[in-house]
Amino acid sequence: MVDVLLGLQWGDEGKGKIVDYFASGYDLIARFQGGPNAGHTLYINDKKVVLHQIPSGIFHDHIVNLIGNGVVLDAVTLKKECETVASFGVDYTKNLYISERTNLILPTHRALDKASESLKGNDKIGSTLKGIGPAYMDKTGRNALRVGDILDKNFTTQYIRLRLKHQKLLDSMHFNEDISAWEEEFFEGIEFMRKFKIVNGEYFINEKIRQNKKVLAEGAQGSMLDVDFGTFPFVTSSNTISAGVCTGLGVPPQKIKEVIGVTKAYCTRVGGGPFPTELHDDTGEKLRKIGNEFGATTGRPRRCGWIDLVALNFACMVNGVTQLVMTKADVLDSFEELKVCSAYKVNGREQKEVPYQITKVALDPVYESCKGWNTDISAMKDAKNLPGAMKDYIAHINQYLGVGIKYVSNGPGREQIIRVA
Ligand code: GDP
Ligand code: IMO
Ligand code: MG
Repeated sequence: MVDVLLGLQWGDEGKGKIVDYFASGYDLIARFQGGPNAGHTLYINDKKVVLHQIPSGIFHDHIVNLIGNGVVLDAVTLKKECETVASFGVDYTKNLYISERTNLILPTHRALDKASESLKGNDKIGSTLKGIGPAYMDKTGRNALRVGDILDKNFTTQYIRLRLKHQKLLDSMHFNEDISAWEEEFFEGIEFMRKFKIVNGEYFINEKIRQNKKVLAEGAQGSMLDVDFGTFPFVTSSNTISAGVCTGLGVPPQKIKEVIGVTKAYCTRVGGGPFPTELHDDTGEKLRKIGNEFGATTGRPRRCGWIDLVALNFACMVNGVTQLVMTKADVLDSFEELKVCSAYKVNGREQKEVPYQITKVALDPVYESCKGWNTDISAMKDAKNLPGAMKDYIAHINQYLGVGIKYVSNGPGREQIIRVA
């Protein structure tokens, strides 16, 4: 069976920490979409590690980690990340597998991302500039190079052919930066990748399932960044929702069991695009400061606001969420009052659905007020000690969503997590 763990907001919900926490109960952890735009933070021996490409099970000795076909892979990032992981004493050559169908990010994809963003001016997506959009475009455009191709003796010729195609585009976009250093690194990365266990990912994972091994699919980004269901066009270029597991790993839908949705106790977003509950005031600043809300991949300050139950409810629906994990609850420890958005006022009318286009309509969040708990919960271990106001906050969210919060994370540390249901 396969369980899925994914983010329900605009990313950075704390997925990495929660995967690491649950990892010991699984035999295989697989990434099914996204690429180095992801930044998943873990604390190993009290040291912070940010993973971009490697699944968050890598620090557990018995766990197999798979980079699935739905991922876009940057060989340069992978090499650097492997070196980081190795500095913790992990032998990545043992437990890390890559699907031969995984699409490669080329240096020119990064250049195209940069050129495209700068042409968009004020309308830019706020992309991580990792080449994600152009790499997925080459996949659906049927041009891409895949990991399996690096084993082909004609790989360099194939690369040059695609690079020339990209160069024409770059010329038309007036991009004239020298990317030869990127190319040099790229080929070093490719050479490094040739040493990996490159597998036929769909047979590999289905064989594990047949052997009754437990698989966890690790999502990247968040549901509101899904290319179909997110706040288009301010989204990423993959299907971040649970359906992406089937296409991103070759897993049939009947094999998916639990869908674990991760949400912060409030909400953040990094990059451009609509964010109904965003706070531009001191409260937003306080959330950013206490929550240390700065991007794990780009270092950009994250935009902060109250929890948005309308968007969360939508995310629970499209993912088929069966259980919730609420992270960063400790960040709310010193607030007298908390707000939860329970409806949107769209062009003056209240509704509980996410509209088709939230960029172009007049949208105001409708809030309900909850009492803050004003207690330091970061050292708590047992649900029964949690403050009453916090239990009320959780109950309020559970009732609205019709799905229960099962775990609350009360700090970034590996042990800071409480089972509440
Ligand atoms: P991901 O992309 O979903 O894995 O999340 P990120 O790693 O980008 O961002 C989450 C940040 O919050 C990281 O810095 C984590 O160390 C931190 N974090 C995770 N859970 C908690 C929590 O319960 N409390 C606090 N204070 N920080 C947390
Ligand atoms: P994790 O896995 C937060 C955002 C970017 C930008 C938009 C498109 O750490 O939660 P892209 O580079 O994908 O073309 O950027 O999506 N974005 C993320 N925001 N967390 C992420 O990943 C993100 N990955 C992409 O900021 O707004
Ligand atoms: Mg992140």
